[in-house]
Amino acid sequence: MCGIVGFVGKKQAAPVLLDGLSKLEYRGYDSAGLAVRNGEDEPVIVKAKGRLKDLAEKTDEGKAVFGGCGIGHTRWATHGEPSENNAHPHCSDDMNVVGVHNGIIENYQELKEKLQHHDYTFYSQTDTEVAIKLIDYYYKKYQVGPIDAIAKTMVRVRGSYAIAVMFKDYPGQIYVARKDSPMVIGIKDGQTYMASDVPAILKYTNQIYYIGNLEMARLDEGKVTFFNLDGDEVEKELVTIDWDAEAAEKGGYEHFMMKEIHEQPKVLEDTINSVVKKSGKSLEVDLTEIGITEEELKNVSDIVIAACGSAYHTGMVDQYVIEDLAKVPVRVELASEFRYRKPLLNPNTLVIVVSQSGETADTLAALREAKSRGNKVLAIVNVVGSSIAREADYVFQTLAGPEISVATTKAYSCQLVAGYILAIALAKAKGQLDEKKENELLTEMRSLPAKIEKILDEKERLQWFASKFSNVHDVFYIGRGIDYAICLEGSLKLKEISYIHSEAYAAGELKHGTISLIEDGTLVIGVLTQSGLFEKTVSNMVEVKSRGAYLCGVTSYGNYSLEDTADFSIYVPKTDEHFAASLAVIPLQLIGYYISVSRGLDVDKPRNLAKSVTVE
Ligand code: F6R
Repeated sequence: MCGIVGFVGKKQAAPVLLDGLSKLEYRGYDSAGLAVRNGEDEPVIVKAKGRLKDLAEKTDEGKAVFGGCGIGHTRWATHGEPSENNAHPHCSDDMNVVGVHNGIIENYQELKEKLQHHDYTFYSQTDTEVAIKLIDYYYKKYQVGPIDAIAKTMVRVRGSYAIAVMFKDYPGQIYVARKDSPMVIGIKDGQTYMASDVPAILKYTNQIYYIGNLEMARLDEGKVTFFNLDGDEVEKELVTIDWDAEAAEKGGYEHFMMKEIHEQPKVLEDTINSVVKKSGKSLEVDLTEIGITEEELKNVSDIVIAACGSAYHTGMVDQYVIEDLAKVPVRVELASEFRYRKPLLNPNTLVIVVSQSGETADTLAALREAKSRGNKVLAIVNVVGSSIAREADYVFQTLAGPEISVATTKAYSCQLVAGYILAIALAKAKGQLDEKKENELLTEMRSLPAKIEKILDEKERLQWFASKFSNVHDVFYIGRGIDYAICLEGSLKLKEISYIHSEAYAAGELKHGTISLIEDGTLVIGVLTQSGLFEKTVSNMVEVKSRGAYLCGVTSYGNYSLEDTADFSIYVPKTDEHFAASLAVIPLQLIGYYISVSRGLDVDKPRNLAKSVTVE
């Protein structure tokens, strides 16, 4: 949720830390801070409540803080209100240990009491201060080095963390450790960088180490040494990241969200081409990269999909597509529920987890729960080297590139096509699809990027529509089947960035209670891409219109009879109906975006939200 950055090198650390933090600000943004050390001097700690620019101002863009070794943090409050006092870095009273932390220490109360018995006092309400002081306690009590003191702390704390600390006795060094919270370390030209996410340091290096779970590292100028929990050195492979720094910048768009909406055709094409190959004259799914075989797919008895938020919504689409094409039963579960409800899994149940970040705590826990039951897990995941990517048995790597806007768009779209591709591969393995039909479906899928371009070309009309409705209080999205799954995503896109209350309803369900909320002028958006359900949803739209609703309808070109009912109609190109979500979601993303902009809100960093939800 929060972001951390570290630097050791010949340059001044503070500007590098501020620059890195600015790339992570989307993860959490109620306060920020840094600690920089000049040679053997004590670290200078500067903190500011509010946005990163406040910290930048306080430090004269970093120029006022000298030294080549430092750590920085942007905070999204979990323990204790957003304030300068609770902002990181935190330190022991004698400045022996200074550190920053992402994640949550679950047993911090118990540890705090233990430390209080040893005369430690606390100035903040944070779990981080407890962790830092516990390291200090072990360091002094056992008179050990930093790695042993951190290892002892890691054994004692429960929860998740990515932590970076500096010790008074070890100038020019940063010590880091992680458990269930992301962290990367990069090297270039004798300088060493550390961050909770790749975009923070990509401008400086694309040579990255992924530190493993429950591992530690010592960062020196241009050098990293990794350790396991026993304090033994471990070897790590240096990975080259293909994302360029430009891809993590706004590229001329006013907001990352708009940039990412426009990147959808390209990233969909990349994702499709990574696994759909020519075989003779036909197209077929090549499972090599994913690592699952046709034989293994053939043996799948049923599928459980576990994910959160928008990723869960793609699972809802997958449920319809997989059951229809492959005739394999699918259950979709919220990952936060799956982990605690002792789900019934057959030995041949394939569990699919879907995650952009690959670090969502609940989804990671669902993956581990499934694996502990002996089930195979396939992950649809965007971030290379993330915890979910590393722990899954099979990985469908979506190629959305870095997604910065908190509200997902391009990663969601890539997750959708990954689901279609798996549905097609499964249907083929199960003998439900011949090569001709496989080729037809894949050919149609490859036409989706061009069709999305066409929708984007007509976006001005949606801007006009959105400006008319920027002050509504309630919006309802209704649809049936796949259209209902699209509504779930459309509704989330609107509410998370515009702060307007909205709900998605299966169109036939509205009259069982919720219809009482419809009054004069309530905006109801119907999605009608499934021909077999078109008339049924139109009837439900008529029901709300007669209660005063203003109707907007989203359907495919050709279904012009919608205009007899809807006050405003939006058309998307025709496609195979299994793939309809990929097109119908685009106008809904744009409506959410334009309404947020016309309300003057912070589109890319909506209040209370963070990009990567690494706490449960
Ligand atoms: C909404 C959104 C969230 C994420 C959810 C899961 O726009 O982005 O609902 O989809 O937090 O995140 P990942 O995919 O990283 O597991």
